[in-house]
Amino acid sequence: MPKVGVLISGRGSNLQALIDAIADGRLAARIAVVISNKPGAGGLDRARAAGIETLTISHRDYSTRDAFDTAMASALVERRVRLVCLAGFMRLIGQPMLDAFPNAILNIHPSLLPAFPGTDAQAQAIAHGVKVSGATVHLVNGELDGGPIVLQASVEVCDDDTAESLSLRILEQEHRLYPEAVCRVLEAGWRLVGRRFVRSVATG
Ligand code: GAR
Repeated sequence: MPKVGVLISGRGSNLQALIDAIADGRLAARIAVVISNKPGAGGLDRARAAGIETLTISHRDYSTRDAFDTAMASALVERRVRLVCLAGFMRLIGQPMLDAFPNAILNIHPSLLPAFPGTDAQAQAIAHGVKVSGATVHLVNGELDGGPIVLQASVEVCDDDTAESLSLRILEQEHRLYPEAVCRVLEAGWRLVGRRFVRSVATG
């Protein structure tokens, strides 16, 4: 089974979606470790409940971003992780991680990128007045939320939506999307054509 490492900062509902997909056979992978940069992150309890090793690597314990990144990369390499999944991980990924996992770090973001990168994407979408937003899973490169897109799902924005209500509907799509995107990246034969993530077998 290919080993996956998951990085979190908070409640970990996307982590749970990955755990559940593995448990019911929709995703052929094993989560080798869950790393949080926040000591009390709720997602750590979800990982422990599923019998997954957890680590806390706090950015506050490192004087530079590179040192923090290097610590995470070492922990993941030590466990022979093939793919790293950011699941509500709220720190920028730096060069040591990108070097250790070239085109092997995935992120999920609550908007239809390239619209509304960065924090509070759902509030940004409402403030802008878009009628459709959604979720994106993309490969991580050096740009903030700027890497090649693996999968997207759209969600209608209603007139009476708040950032919270929109977040909840987007989250439902995230939970469906992330396991599917991880499957696509773990399967053999995809390639990047410029910015485009292209599968060798076009199955939709
Ligand atoms: C999710 O909505 C995810 O897309 C978002 O944080 C939430 C984490 O929820 N990530 C970002 O905004 C990254 N820029 P979770 O902890 O319940 O998975």
